[in-house]
Formats: sequence, structure tokens, C-alpha cells
Amino acid sequence: MKKTILTTIAASIAALAFVHADGKAAYMTCSACHGADGKGMPIGAKKMAPTLAGSAVVTGDASVLALTILKGIKKEGAEFIGIMAPLEAIYADDQKLADVMTFVRQSFGNEAAAVTKEDAAKYRAQWKDIKEPVSRAKITELTKKEGE
Ligand code: HEC
Repeated sequence: MKKTILTTIAASIAALAFVHADGKAAYMTCSACHGADGKGMPIGAKKMAPTLAGSAVVTGDASVLALTILKGIKKEGAEFIGIMAPLEAIYADDQKLADVMTFVRQSFGNEAAAVTKEDAAKYRAQWKDIKEPVSRAKITELTKKEGE
């Protein structure tokens, strides 16, 4: 009996480690701009991209996070060196999209709910008609709605 429990625990830990490794691998693309620590890769006095730690877009309504990743954000200012490009082609697989979303929602001190493959597929379908990067104002508006 004891052995069975131990085997089950060992298997769960292995499964968790696996999920985490997948998330980390899926985050590789993002880390070029958001940094391995999620705080934004510094370039001189500026940053490639904003911090994902404590970001309302990351930890709020997951559909808005999916929208940001899939369609990108329209470049309007020069605050950041980088551009939040549409990454739909890189995250064409629902599991990979779910992995990267869960990773950012549960890393850098963030503690939001995980995203399943089914959720990821649902968000992809929800935003399928959007063909170009979304304005910052739209992202903010959608983020606010969820927090109200
Ligand atoms: C080529 C650089 C680059 C890459 C790669 C990149 N981002 Fe971004 N990201 C940006 C920039 C720049 C912004 C700020 C856009 C703006 O507001 O104008 C941003 C904004 C964001 C935001 C909004 C944050 C907030 O609180 O306003 C989220 C969420 C985000 N990125 C997540 C990701 C994730 C997840 C990945 C990987 C799947 C990723 N990004 C890949 C450059 C990048």
C-alpha cells in the first residue's frame, strides 16, 4: 500500500516537472524580449518589453492574454525597443499556447489559474476574425472589463 502511494507521488512529481519544462521551453520565444526573469530584457537605459510580473494582462482574463500572444499589440509608442508581434504562427498548437500561458501566469511571482489545451483552443476560435495587432487601448479596455 505504502509503495503504491510513493509510486503515485513520484509519478505526480515527474508529471509536474514535465509540464514545467514544457512551459519553460514554450517561453523561450518570449524571453528574447521579456527576459528569462520576465521583467523585460534591458537594452541600455530602455527595455525590449514590459515586465510580465504582476501584469494584469497576464494574470487577468486568460482570453485577453491569448489575444495579446496570438495577434500582438500595435506599436504606438517608443517606450519599449521591441514590438509585441503576432505570434500565432509559433503557437499554432493549442497545447503549446496553453503551456506558455500557464507558464507566464504561474511564474515571476504570478499566481493565476492554469490554462488547459481546451481553453487555448476556445480563445483561438474566439479571436479568429482579428487579422491585425490590437491597439494598446483595446487591450487595456478588455483587461479592465474583467477586473470590474
Ligand atoms: C520581439 C519582442 C517580443 C516578444 C518575442 C514577445 N513580446 Fe510581449 N511585448 C513586447 C512589447 C514591446 C510589449 C509592449 C507592447 C505595447 O504595449 O506597446 C509586449 C507586451 C506584452 C504583454 C502586455 C503586458 C502588459 O501588462 O501590458 C504581454 C502579456 C506579453 N507581451 C506577453 C508575451 C508572451 C507571453 C510572449 C511569448 C509568447 C511575448 N510577449 C513575446 C515584446 C515582445
